[in-house]
Amino acid sequence: MDECTISQPFQLKNKRTTLKNRIVKSAMSEGLAAKNHLPDISIFRLYEAWAKGGAGLVITGNVMVDRRALGEPRNVVLEDGEHLDSFKRWAEAGTQNDTHLWMQINHPGKQVIKGVAKEAVAPSAVNFDPKLQRFFPKSRALTQNEIKEIIDRFATTAKLAQRAGFTGVQIHAAHGYLISQFLSPRHNQRDDEWGGSIANRFKFLREIYQAIRTEVGEDFPIGVKINSSDFMKAGFSEEESQFVIQELDRIGVDLIEISGGTYEKPNMTGKNVKPSTLEREAYFLEYAEQLKQKTDVPLVLTGGFRTRSGMNRALRDGATDCIGLARPTAVYTDYPNRLFQGRAGAISISPIKTGVGLIDDKALLELTWYSQQLDRIGRGKPTKPEFSPLLSLILTVVKNGRDVFQKRRE
Ligand SMILES: Cc1cc2nc3c(=O)[nH]c(=O)nc-3n(C[C@H](O)[C@H](O)[C@H](O)COP(=O)(O)O)c2cc1C
Repeated sequence: MDECTISQPFQLKNKRTTLKNRIVKSAMSEGLAAKNHLPDISIFRLYEAWAKGGAGLVITGNVMVDRRALGEPRNVVLEDGEHLDSFKRWAEAGTQNDTHLWMQINHPGKQVIKGVAKEAVAPSAVNFDPKLQRFFPKSRALTQNEIKEIIDRFATTAKLAQRAGFTGVQIHAAHGYLISQFLSPRHNQRDDEWGGSIANRFKFLREIYQAIRTEVGEDFPIGVKINSSDFMKAGFSEEESQFVIQELDRIGVDLIEISGGTYEKPNMTGKNVKPSTLEREAYFLEYAEQLKQKTDVPLVLTGGFRTRSGMNRALRDGATDCIGLARPTAVYTDYPNRLFQGRAGAISISPIKTGVGLIDDKALLELTWYSQQLDRIGRGKPTKPEFSPLLSLILTVVKNGRDVFQKRRE
């Protein structure tokens, strides 16, 4: 008999926050913001569905701290208190059913889709891999003052999220966005106090955490999503990731979510992952196991989990405390409840493929296919698990123009 470990509650170290079970709905950028980058009815609908779907903790898609620095065209932005009512409605929808709702907050740095911004900022002016340069604008290095302004922005967004009724925040330090760029020796080549040793590269994240903590107080949960590794030559390594996580635990971060990869190496969606790892279901399981041998930091492990037995095994083996799930919940918003009730086995969530290698190797198709499912839920329509990946791609090209898919001519 498969003892249902995923349904056990989980108390954070602050002793004031208990998640009703071990399932975390991981962040998925909704791409549904209304004019002015505010949440509206489609986002309320989506989060109501997820709150009813059974997860103990729902993490929002990344909310940007600066409207001048969007990752994608329809990102939500929270940078001042002017329209806080819309965020209150979002929080109300997503905290039903005793669900914790944490806002993921982010700055994309140079990982900004071309067409969204003419110029992007980064720790250093280092270009992406040539194959990816057609997707992203050129970037320039941030000044010291700009770095400090961004740290303050994270704190402001977190404070506003708390005021709106979100029950926690998660700092997005994974997947190649600005904080992840600061952590990476490949992308951060600064020779001031923000670059060089891993302790210096960590300073940006540490100061963001401390600025947020000062604003929100000791009892408000702050999580961090971080890469196990960037999987890039001369990138952020597993050893460096372990160092950063241990430091985060020491300074009081409440929950660490483990992922991996960047747009250049999209391991977070299972690309480039070894077959032996895929057999074990979760892409970063081995890393989590190693980490847990050294520390008792509260962990969410995300990426690849699909079966209740795989999830329960990871929990029972002590590799993680919670299970992060993203894509299954975009197709079945009640996936957590189906897991608890033993009804998820009948569902298969297959990789999204067109059969064209060049396209299928990138994470872009996965992102657009799943975003289209979120869009349907937002419009009050049923999801389409059988939706053709090729049609999804065609729709994306028609909607966003061909720019992103074309070779850069200059
Ligand atoms: C459409 C889509 C949007 C995503 N947006 C975000 C995001 O805003 N922030 C984030 O940390 N991860 C984001 N992710 C990554 C997921 O949180 C998760 O790490 C990844 O999908 C692996 O988990 P899964 O195998 O359960 O899907 C996104 C994934 C998808 C498919």
